[in-house]
Amino acid sequence: MKRIGMLTSGGDCQGLNAALRGVAKALYEEFGKDVEIYGIHDGYRGLIEGDYQKMAPENFSGILTHGGTILGTSRQPFKLMRVIGENNVDKVAAMKATYAKMKLDALVILGGNGTHKTANLLSGEGLNVVTLPKTIDNDLWGTDVTFGYQSAIDIATYVLDCIHTTATSHGRIFIVELMGHKAGWLTLEAGIAGGADIILIPEIPYKLDKIVSTLNRRGKQGKEFSILAVAEGALSYEESKLSKKEFKQARANMAEPSIAYRLANELGKKTGQEIRVAVPGHFQRGGSPCAFDRVISTRFGTEAARLIKEKKFGHMVALQNGKMVDVPLSEVAGKLKTVPPESEIVRSARDLGICMGD
Ligand code: F6P
Repeated sequence: MKRIGMLTSGGDCQGLNAALRGVAKALYEEFGKDVEIYGIHDGYRGLIEGDYQKMAPENFSGILTHGGTILGTSRQPFKLMRVIGENNVDKVAAMKATYAKMKLDALVILGGNGTHKTANLLSGEGLNVVTLPKTIDNDLWGTDVTFGYQSAIDIATYVLDCIHTTATSHGRIFIVELMGHKAGWLTLEAGIAGGADIILIPEIPYKLDKIVSTLNRRGKQGKEFSILAVAEGALSYEESKLSKKEFKQARANMAEPSIAYRLANELGKKTGQEIRVAVPGHFQRGGSPCAFDRVISTRFGTEAARLIKEKKFGHMVALQNGKMVDVPLSEVAGKLKTVPPESEIVRSARDLGICMGD
């Protein structure tokens, strides 16, 4: 009898259920009654606290199109994993104990960057771990694409499309703030897809004057509206010169709730124009996965089942050049995949006349 545990950790996204279904269906196909699948609740919390349930094949039916995760999720910061908290719980020892108590042959972990650091830690502690790359940020090293990303692009693009019509009617400047944490992928691709005039991403620090001159130039061309797609992690040229600590402090002291609102204030003063802000926030992570994510999540899932069958552990399933591959967790953990400022996609945006803020 094979006993497989699965957990979803970190921020949710579209395609988690499709990926769980992919793993489960492929395992049931391969091992039939000789496999038992256990769903661990709320990510690493469930593994620490021994909170899990035995799943049945029917639990994985009808969930392909469902957003969120049937297992629940939570954020358990990696930097605290080795820290004994007030409750005196040694989290790593507790996770190992749960794994042993469950008599697992393998643990499938679906998550993003922080999740992969802990997955690597658990793999180093001797657990048989296979991971799947999940995040709307697309910032996981070692894979060309993560699941959830394309669905988030579609939503962000839809927001930009809607903002376009109202911006045109009113002749206003609109700032749309998009997620992505420290990576600009989502903003860049949605910005291009949604016809943004200015795209600001963390990888390319912006200069306010450049943005102002772009807005003024558009005004002179008779274009009464402008749309800025701004990543939540965008930062100014001046901020890019600060140390990590100084930057954190500066942001903590910022009067506005986020970068989009600060830009709106600054640009409003410099241009004398009316500026509106739209922040779709968690909308971008919600709802049904798009067709691309359904397919990619399924492929990631069935590939994870194949790795379990081959007893190839300590790896993340990844997509590279259109092919499913697996990458050692030690290579993935702690590395961020950000937008190379000199990349072809950035050049394409610039060739189109999009202002990247620099
Ligand atoms: O990593 C996914 C993500 O949506 C980021 O884009 C964003 O910065 C963060 O999660 C938001 O986290 P939370 O859901 O905890 O507010």
